[in-house]
Amino acid sequence: MAKPKRRYVCQACGSVTHRWQGQCADCGEWNTLAEEAPETVFSAKHDLSSGGRAIRFEPLDAPGEVLQRRTTGIAEFDRALGGGLVPGSAILMGGDPGIGKSTLLLQAAASVANSGGAAIYISGEEAAGQVRLRAERLGLANAPIQLAAATSVRDILTTLGQMEPPALLVIDSIQTMHSDTIEGAPGTVSQVRGCAFELIRFAKQTNTALVLVGHVTKDGSIAGPRVLEHMVDVVMSFEGERSHQYRILRSLKNRFGPVDEIGVFAMEGQGLKEVGNPSLLFLSGRDSPVAGSAVFPAMEGTRPVLIEVQALIVRLASGATPRRAVVGWDNGRMAMLLAVLEARCGLNFSSCEVYLNVAGGYRLTDPAADLAVAAALVSALADKPLPAEAVWFGEVSLAGEIRPVAHGSIRLREAAKLGFGTAFGPAELPGASDGSRYRGLALLPNLVDRIMGEA
Ligand code: TYD
Ligand code: MG
Repeated sequence: MAKPKRRYVCQACGSVTHRWQGQCADCGEWNTLAEEAPETVFSAKHDLSSGGRAIRFEPLDAPGEVLQRRTTGIAEFDRALGGGLVPGSAILMGGDPGIGKSTLLLQAAASVANSGGAAIYISGEEAAGQVRLRAERLGLANAPIQLAAATSVRDILTTLGQMEPPALLVIDSIQTMHSDTIEGAPGTVSQVRGCAFELIRFAKQTNTALVLVGHVTKDGSIAGPRVLEHMVDVVMSFEGERSHQYRILRSLKNRFGPVDEIGVFAMEGQGLKEVGNPSLLFLSGRDSPVAGSAVFPAMEGTRPVLIEVQALIVRLASGATPRRAVVGWDNGRMAMLLAVLEARCGLNFSSCEVYLNVAGGYRLTDPAADLAVAAALVSALADKPLPAEAVWFGEVSLAGEIRPVAHGSIRLREAAKLGFGTAFGPAELPGASDGSRYRGLALLPNLVDRIMGEA
């Protein structure tokens, strides 16, 4: 038999080569190739068209067992999941180190356990004593969670096989798990994939909701191959600035629900607290109007959130290259908006440094933010504060048109509820009542006239 070829697998993208290289030829990452065990080679002898068992087909409306979602006891977590944990589902939870994944999952496990479901928390990173210490700090020391420190998937599945399957199984983290049937250190692509496969199979067979914690690499993707994201039913990411208090739980993929709902939490001394009404969180203390600050009524899933966008413009005397820095918004999108303001409105930012910041560590993804950013930039350039009770939303096209966006009336209602009675948005806004406080703007130059023309 031919000697099996050496196999090197890129730990970032999963691509396979037979020669070691410093850089992955597929994704361009450096030092990510690691040798892994050869994969079984299939030949004509392995004919799969006979010898198997017949599978049974069922109609979609078969009167089978209807699985009820189970609440995690944390409403914001349930909301991000699309209504609670689906039994037998596998959830991958990604997030930067220290953002609060272990804290959130320990709190969820405790509340499942307190409401009568069996919850198992297996930590591969901390000793049981450390997890217990954290539970004490969170005031959860009395919750009947079954806690273990383990990293061998064989030990874990053997133990679970001998008991009633739990309602919730948390594995913290999948990168620390190890299977003795697979070569390689924990955290390598084949280990991560193999361990996840076995754990997910257990979850499906026993209707256990499984949460796998996944480490995140520098560029924000979940470490290990993307295949992990394909294997699970739900991919969630826990985000936030570590220096800020607020955390957002987002679902990036969900086989059982929508992906645009978020859960909002605040990290406090006693763990994560739910923030049921996040509307006002991302507004800084607004005592007197400041030039360069605009309020944007963003949509997060079905919920409106008011967010403050701040711009600062510094004129440079010399011909030095001006800096542009963006925090909380897309860099390329700001470059585009500056170009549109220059080309369509005759404004000149070429000798100015431009800084843009979204308050509260929030990250804007809603395309309707364009108009608010434009308003903040123009206000900063003109050094004129915007009206204190106004909000701004709309998408800006390269031609300088202000385009309609979704959920206009929800945005207006939320803004009005919080005392922002005036709204500037697209000329055509489906669903907006023609209240006297709504001002439609057709083109970006209309916005500039509006801000430059009045105080
Ligand atoms: P942790 O859940 O360990 O993060 P992860 O599992 O995502 O790496 O969270 C650790 C951080 O949370 C740590 O910096 C301290 C902070 N923290 C609090 O502020 N309050 C608390 O009650 C707890 C338990 C942690
Ligand atoms: Mg952790």
